[in-house]
Amino acid sequence: MNKPLLVLGSINADLYVEVDRLPQPGETIQGGGCAVRPGGKGGNQAAAAAKLGYPTWFAGHLGNDDFAVPMRAAIRTAGADDRLLTQVAAPTGQAFILLQRGGENSIIVAAGANLVWNGLDAPIIDAIPKSGAVLLQRETPTDIVLAAARAGRSAGIPVILDAGGSNDTLDPRVLPFLSVFSPNEHELAHITGLPTTNEVEVLRAARSLQSQGVGTVLVKLGARGCLLVPRQGEPTHQASFPVTVVDTTGAGDCFTAAYTVAMLESRAEVDRLRFACAAAAICVSRLGAMPSLPNRSEVDSFLAKHSS
Ligand code: RIB
Repeated sequence: MNKPLLVLGSINADLYVEVDRLPQPGETIQGGGCAVRPGGKGGNQAAAAAKLGYPTWFAGHLGNDDFAVPMRAAIRTAGADDRLLTQVAAPTGQAFILLQRGGENSIIVAAGANLVWNGLDAPIIDAIPKSGAVLLQRETPTDIVLAAARAGRSAGIPVILDAGGSNDTLDPRVLPFLSVFSPNEHELAHITGLPTTNEVEVLRAARSLQSQGVGTVLVKLGARGCLLVPRQGEPTHQASFPVTVVDTTGAGDCFTAAYTVAMLESRAEVDRLRFACAAAAICVSRLGAMPSLPNRSEVDSFLAKHSS
């Protein structure tokens, strides 16, 4: 039996409205369909791993409002264990998502409970050494990410950090704890201060992180797929799968979680990348963050259909 993947991070109520275009300052426009859907980078990644069939614990903070019940239910429905998901005296995180035709989005996050921590919760400290890996993002406070990464490294388990969730500079103290760091090309440029406009530049920026202690750098390139840069050896590029894009929200979360699951299953590197790109492709072809995450059989059938 595999030890569970522990995902620590944010959980949000995603408040969606569909728009033809973004409003100008001072302008009021009419939106289309609107809905509340479960999301948040941590919740999405936990739900993704669980739906792919990997035993998963989700650690995070909900608020004390009406959003808390349906958000917890979404984590449970996905199959993740929610015993490390606790309520604090704050509003549940909310993300205001303007979804444009073609799938691009603009998001404002009101982090609420996701930022209310007083050190790592004791049950999370106990759980880390009992887990098989720790998966983190940056929608929780830096000191919490750092503490969880350090605890994971001390326990001798892989620590994976998705760069998404913050525009702040990355605290360099976290880098030596990371087995895998996964930014998109924009986050990579922001974090390293280096250009990332082509593959050579992306590689150079990834290497600069590795010189500070990071293991593998897994760069998301959007419609161009991904580039995996191992600490030693040559990088591997994986193209994305062609699909009709409905909503890109949560696709990066789905990608990182699927890669982590495939890594924990000791699949060959190229299979991990195909698995992650396939999961993300299914995710962008559906509406919502958490509701769009595929299960294992959907990814397997997708890959069977797209095998060359
Ligand atoms: O990565 C997608 C997520 O970012 C959304 O679900 C939203 O909650 C924001 O946190």
